[in-house]
Amino acid sequence: MSQTDLERYQHLIDNGDEPENNQSGNPTFTSILDKCVSRRQILRGSLNSVVAGMVTTSGVGLLAGSAQAKRLLPPQAQGRPPFGLKPMLGFEPVAPSFANLVTVPTGYSSRPFLPWGTPICGHYPPYLDGGHNSGADQEYQVGHNHDGMHYFPLHNDGDGSEHGLLCINHEYIQQSDMHPNGPTLVSGSRVIEDEVRKEVAAHGVSIVEVRKQGDTWEVVQGGYNRRITGATPMELSGPVRGSDMVQTRYSRNGTRTRGTLNNCAHGYTPWGTYLTCEENWAGYFVNQGEQPREQSRYGVSRTAGRYRWETVTTNDVYARHDVSVKGNSAADDYRNEANTFGWVVEIDPFKPDSIPRKRTAMGRFAHEGAWMAPARRGQPLTVYMGDDARFEYIYKFVTRERYHPRTAGGHLLDEGTLYVARFNADGTGDWLALDINDAEFRAACRAADVEFKDQADVLINTRAAADVIGATRMDRPEWGAVHPQTGEVYMTLTNNSQRQPGDVDGANPRGPNAYGQIVRWQEQGNRNWATRFQWELFVVAGPEENSARLDGEALDETNIFNSPDGLWFDQNGVLWIQTDGSQAAPFGNNQMLAADPRTGEIRRFMTGPRGCEVTGVVTTPDGATMFVNVQHPGGNWPDGGNARPRSSMVVVTQDDGGPIGI
Ligand code: FEO
Ligand code: CA
Ligand code: CA
Repeated sequence: MSQTDLERYQHLIDNGDEPENNQSGNPTFTSILDKCVSRRQILRGSLNSVVAGMVTTSGVGLLAGSAQAKRLLPPQAQGRPPFGLKPMLGFEPVAPSFANLVTVPTGYSSRPFLPWGTPICGHYPPYLDGGHNSGADQEYQVGHNHDGMHYFPLHNDGDGSEHGLLCINHEYIQQSDMHPNGPTLVSGSRVIEDEVRKEVAAHGVSIVEVRKQGDTWEVVQGGYNRRITGATPMELSGPVRGSDMVQTRYSRNGTRTRGTLNNCAHGYTPWGTYLTCEENWAGYFVNQGEQPREQSRYGVSRTAGRYRWETVTTNDVYARHDVSVKGNSAADDYRNEANTFGWVVEIDPFKPDSIPRKRTAMGRFAHEGAWMAPARRGQPLTVYMGDDARFEYIYKFVTRERYHPRTAGGHLLDEGTLYVARFNADGTGDWLALDINDAEFRAACRAADVEFKDQADVLINTRAAADVIGATRMDRPEWGAVHPQTGEVYMTLTNNSQRQPGDVDGANPRGPNAYGQIVRWQEQGNRNWATRFQWELFVVAGPEENSARLDGEALDETNIFNSPDGLWFDQNGVLWIQTDGSQAAPFGNNQMLAADPRTGEIRRFMTGPRGCEVTGVVTTPDGATMFVNVQHPGGNWPDGGNARPRSSMVVVTQDDGGPIGI
């Protein structure tokens, strides 16, 4: 890659959304890509033996109880054969595209569904172009900037492939699209409170009951439909609950907060709940005074909140975004408000009145998503997570209690061990516990002269704890995916404009890294809760002269891509890769590709409209309907004419009704 390329792509890569705050100087390893490639044969041998001895996931059925009677567990939790271990990609790859539309392979169709502003609850206020809906309207409409999502089938129609609940994250907003003339500011202050109400309501999560009617999908005006926003009451759960570090004027005993923000990717549990993850929340808060490490290490603003909500000082819901010290104690002000963000939030989509819970045992950072390894009866659960910022870390959480389908529930996520990953130069890796009762962690804290007063302090300062223990500084970990049968874990490392040539290592082999890579690993003994693993690079993305597939060959016009972001395994064992990166030639608009995890074959399946990011994908259990999200499209997509652009899902089907991709 030339310097000119770097400059050309810089504005796309370095969008300011993922600030760099890691000054830890943790060690990196001077290793090179060749080393990873040479290791592949060894690892492939071990993977084959894993496949031969693979376990069947627990065959659990419906949960009991009337409120849960309709709940079907996600396919991956049901041990429903067949999970394909040998997916054959069965479509002709589409070409790179610069057109302002969605392209899919010959024999497939796509159509927009649930764009921003679609009414889903309350009095179903219709969407008005031009930013003319009110804040109250937005509280009943699909939010902005669709991101991670999941489909929970409802069982009263067969396997739920034509009727289910979609849970959709709304990551952030474009203020310019949201109001008739953008945000109204006087001397830097928001002077129209309803604009701010609308922006807060456009964040969070949409839960929508959907049903297939003929060839199209429709919103069911039912009781499950719900908007969770940046102001919805939430419980704090796990070790941080009740800590003096989360006491606020709203919750003097530190047990509650309001809202979830910057919900990027997601996860789901074998008991049928949705996990939504708080990513770039730090910039929504401002402290112009002295910042404690739990603010400075995360990039809380020193000048103004991202959308200046804090300037609506007459309303506590908005004013709390100023997290400076104002009162005599934490219970008098919002100095701790930012400590109630940065978590994984569990939502029960089947209980519309349930209060979402922030599961603090899984750490506080720029959570991209939370991906659970296949649940196995009688064994602990493992959740993989990435911290998407330059030089941040990969984590996993292992539950203290073992999984039993009858007793499983959210309480499992409140007790366990949080680990951070170290990728060694020899292709092995270690999981390092961030646990105040762990001797190695305590010794590392003493050696670094860093103190944590209790586990709540460790969790609120997860990044600082990971710095101390010597984790590997990664190239922006985005989505992860766990193979439903082998338990092998994949994670995208999207890019890193700031990595220096002399600061590379095996898992992060390029500096600067404009194009990104996908790393995968297998846990020791194929136990996801093990503390050792073996890793390799699945694909190094980029143009032909600067890329490598699993077999060592370069990417070509059928699959060139950069900045891998979204990642998901379908029930046929196809690995879906979504991009958020440079749209210059040769890449074209952001796209989605399908990969065979065994062979490393990759084919481009879909291209998005101009300017968008493709993020979020799931299929119905039969694999015949695929939902894909298109975030922040440019131009006038999808409405056309002079309409404003709207983030939207698209529904992809094969014209013969067959499963997608194979
Ligand atoms: Fe919201 Fe890291 O993407
Ligand atoms: Ca992302
Ligand atoms: Ca991204």
